Formats: sequence, C-alpha cells, structure tokens
Amino acid sequence: MKSLEQSSIQIIKANQAASGAYIASPAFSQYGYSWLRDGMWIAHSMDAVGEHASAAAFHRWVERTILRYEQHINALLGKLDRKEPISDVDLLPTRFTLDGDLGSDVWTDFQLDGYGAWLWGVVQHCRTVDAALWDEMRPAVRLVVRYLDALWMMPNYDCWEEFRDEIHISTLAALYGGLAAVQSFEAALVPDGLIEKIRSYTLENGVSPNGHFIKFLGNANVDASLLWVALPFGLVDIHDPRFLRTVEKIEQDILRLGGGVYRYCADNYFGGGEWLLLTCWLAWVYLRLNRLDEARRLMRWVEEQARPNGEMPEQVSAHTLDPAQYQPWVERWGNPACPLLWSHAMYLIVQTELDTFEK
Ligand code: BGC
Repeated sequence: MKSLEQSSIQIIKANQAASGAYIASPAFSQYGYSWLRDGMWIAHSMDAVGEHASAAAFHRWVERTILRYEQHINALLGKLDRKEPISDVDLLPTRFTLDGDLGSDVWTDFQLDGYGAWLWGVVQHCRTVDAALWDEMRPAVRLVVRYLDALWMMPNYDCWEEFRDEIHISTLAALYGGLAAVQSFEAALVPDGLIEKIRSYTLENGVSPNGHFIKFLGNANVDASLLWVALPFGLVDIHDPRFLRTVEKIEQDILRLGGGVYRYCADNYFGGGEWLLLTCWLAWVYLRLNRLDEARRLMRWVEEQARPNGEMPEQVSAHTLDPAQYQPWVERWGNPACPLLWSHAMYLIVQTELDTFEK
C-alpha cells in the first residue's frame, strides 16, 4: 500500500467523532459538520480498505440521527398529504453537527442527493460486509424512502449546494441509485414503480439534443457530478452512448489538459479550481472503461496535489476558471479546505481498485 493510502486512512480515522460522524474538514471554518454525501463516500472508502468498524459506526450514526427527526418527517409528510404549503424548515438538512443536531449556522440546506447516496452506501455496506446490520438500519431506511418518494420531483440545491430552484440530473441519479439499491435488497421497502418513474423522467428531460446528460433541466452544460449517473448509481450503464458522450463533453469542457477536473464551466467558488475528488472520479470511470493509462495519469496528478504531510485539499487553485473570484472567498472563509476527507475517500476508493490491476 502506498504511503498516501496509509496517510489517508489515518486522516479519516483521526477525524471520525466518537458518535461515528465524520467531519467534512477539520481545518475549514464552514466544514465542521458531517454531511451525508461526504460521509457516505468516506464510509465506503473505509470498507474498501477493510476498516469496516469505522464504516459501520458512521451508518449507525446516520440511523440514530434520522430517527431523531422522525416526527419532523412525519409532520412534513402530513402537510404534503393535506396539500398544505411547506417551507424550508419543514425539510431535512444536508448536514448535521457531529452529535446529530441541526447546528446554528444558516445554510443552503434543502439537498436531496445525500439521502439517496446514503441509501446506496448503507446497502453496499450491508451487502458486502454485514447483512445483519440491515435490521438495525431498516427503520431509518424506510423513513428516508418515504421522504424521497414524496419529494424527488421538487427542485432542490445540487450537490455543490447551489441553484436551489432547479432539478439536477446528478441528484436524480443519486435518488435513483439509492432507491434501486434498497429495492434490490428488500423490495417491499420501495413503492412499486418509483425507481422506473425517476429513471424515465431523467432520461426524458436530462439529455441534451447532442446526446449527453445535462447539468440541470434547462441548462445544457455538463457538470462533473454527472459521472455518478453511471458510476456508481447505474441510472444507465457505463457503456451507454449518452454516458460516453457525457464523458467526452466533460473532457472537452472541464478537464484541464495535463491537470485535473473542474466542477463546471461557470464555477467561481474559490475562483473555481480543479477538484481532487472529481479527478479521482474520472479516473474511476476510465478504469471501468479499461482506459488504464488515463486513469493512472489522473491518479498521479491527484497524488502530486497532496501536501508533504499527506493532506489532500478540496481543490487546487493554480489554474482557476475565474481568478478574480479567489481572494474574495479567502477573505470570507479562509483558504480552501485541507484536508477534505471526501478527497481522501475518493483517492482510497479508486486507488485500491487500481491496485488490483497492478498486481
Ligand atoms: C461542497 C459540497 C460538500 C461540502 C462539504 C461544499 O462546498 O459543495 O459538495 O458536501 O462542501 O465538503
């Protein structure tokens, strides 16, 4: 195992709270919380390297946390049934404090993708590591399925916590992937026809006339999070022409030659740098497409971005898309997050898979 793999495992384990929650970044003013989205991937990476107790502790934390909000969810579902208006406080947050509380900062909270992603992740954990844990998880899984069944068509913030009023294709893919995983594990938990509805809605509305998946309904650009439409969420097969066209468009528009992957063309968060976790994601897709040399090149680039102590940042800023926007973010929140546990997680997931090819 490479030393960067070892240091990634150490960094993740050192930043898991006793509750089981993983902090998104211990060193960035805004990321002292645990996100379902980041956390699921971090837990998945711990399973990939055999640290199953860490992953199980995270899933147990999510389960306890979601059950704390059971009444809140039931109240919301009641309002929706009675066709009463709802507001953002009726919805679930995207992140919790490490103790499962709501936290006091105002945040762009209404994001559904993390809930779909968690469903996908907890099923993988139970399927591959510990089927007995499923009995413990079932009440929370059931609640999340009811929540997503009621809300999946509602516009909500994307995985970058932007564009509240849009319907995002990568979010729909996460919902599809999570619900399909639950259905394949315990079919009775998912309403009949739900995953098919999400899939056909996405395919009808989420593909451009040029044949690639789009950022959100009405915006024909690509976003690197579209990679998860196929990998891992399986809304289409990785060889599907619409997915391959999406990969090509990502390569054309948001992969820097000799460098890493941007989130999307108009990104200006910290000037819009190259993201390590997305570069790993494209490497993962290459690997599954048997484009091993390209996968290796991207992973080497990611390794070169690690600090001498092994810490990996969220993004690097040497070639930002909108340099004038870098400093204002630094003044607001400090330097970009480093270490970002989700970067370490994606590095571990892809590198361990790549390691199996190197033997
Ligand atoms: C990103 C989210 C992420 C969060 C914590 C935000 O800036 O846009 O995707 O979940 O940071 O890492």
